[in-house]
Amino acid sequence: MRLEGKTAIIMGAGQSPGQGMGNGRATALLFAREGARVLCVDRDPGSAAETAELIAAEGGEAATFEADVTREAEVAASVNECTRRWGRLDILHNNVGISVAGGDAEVTEITEEAFDRVMTVNLRGTVMACKHAIPVMREQRSGAIVNISSIAAIECYPWVAYKASKMGMVAFTRQIAIQNAEYGIRANVILPGVMDTPMAVDTRARAWNLPREEVAAERDARVPLGGKMGTAWDVAYAALYLASDEARFVTGVELPVDGGTGCRIG
Ligand SMILES: NC(=O)c1ccc[n+]([C@@H]2O[C@H](COP(=O)([O-])OP(=O)(O)OC[C@H]3O[C@@H](n4cnc5c(N)ncnc54)[C@H](O)[C@@H]3O)[C@@H](O)[C@H]2O)c1
Repeated sequence: MRLEGKTAIIMGAGQSPGQGMGNGRATALLFAREGARVLCVDRDPGSAAETAELIAAEGGEAATFEADVTREAEVAASVNECTRRWGRLDILHNNVGISVAGGDAEVTEITEEAFDRVMTVNLRGTVMACKHAIPVMREQRSGAIVNISSIAAIECYPWVAYKASKMGMVAFTRQIAIQNAEYGIRANVILPGVMDTPMAVDTRARAWNLPREEVAAERDARVPLGGKMGTAWDVAYAALYLASDEARFVTGVELPVDGGTGCRIG
């Protein structure tokens, strides 16, 4: 019960269609298993409800809230919903992120629309969630923010908007970490590597009209540790540590969860 008595918001607690478990859903489940009450926020209410049902089936406590992180009023309403229900907000986990599905492309191909869409969902969505969560946490004089970036922020990566937004999240996390340290608020960022999630594998298989196994095999081959992608649980366990009091002296950290992929850089 590493999160006993805490309340958490997971932004993007549903998951893309496909096989297996997404990062947001696994994190919501794990936080609930460890004693947190979890508000599952997603623009897809059906998918958030599936996550909440999985939590309830295990005896955990969860609620759902429909919000699109590109709409500030809806993001603010999710924070209000958490405090209205449970009186406090201890953990904000920003998991929402899009890449291929947002129309991202190489620099010579990128459109203004695709660039704006990916930046707005990935970076601005995170900024707006923090904008509304931080005043509550300052009032409490405690809180933990976990942002989900990507190893794409630092490794060689083909598409511009995803990379820029994910590197922006790293810089933003360091900024809010130092600006809110005096209030007892911690902010850290996880850089997942190639993970076997529906968002990463099934979305690409659909977009490129390839068999899932082919996409999965190409991704496995890129991982130094055991030649296999990580899973959503690897991200969830890292988030659990950063969200818990075990990390009480850890803030402003970039934590790769990537099976060694980042070590290739040097
Ligand atoms: N899977 C990987 O290989 C990998 C690698 C690096 C980083 N990541 C990061 O992990 C995060 C997501 O992983 P996941 O497996 O949970 O993905 P996912 O797509 O399964 O889940 C994300 C959820 O966010 C929701 N969402 C999308 N746009 C939204 C919006 N505008 N407002 C509210 N909700 C919205 C979706 O409905 C979905 O339920 C992303 O930030 C992604 O960049 C993943």
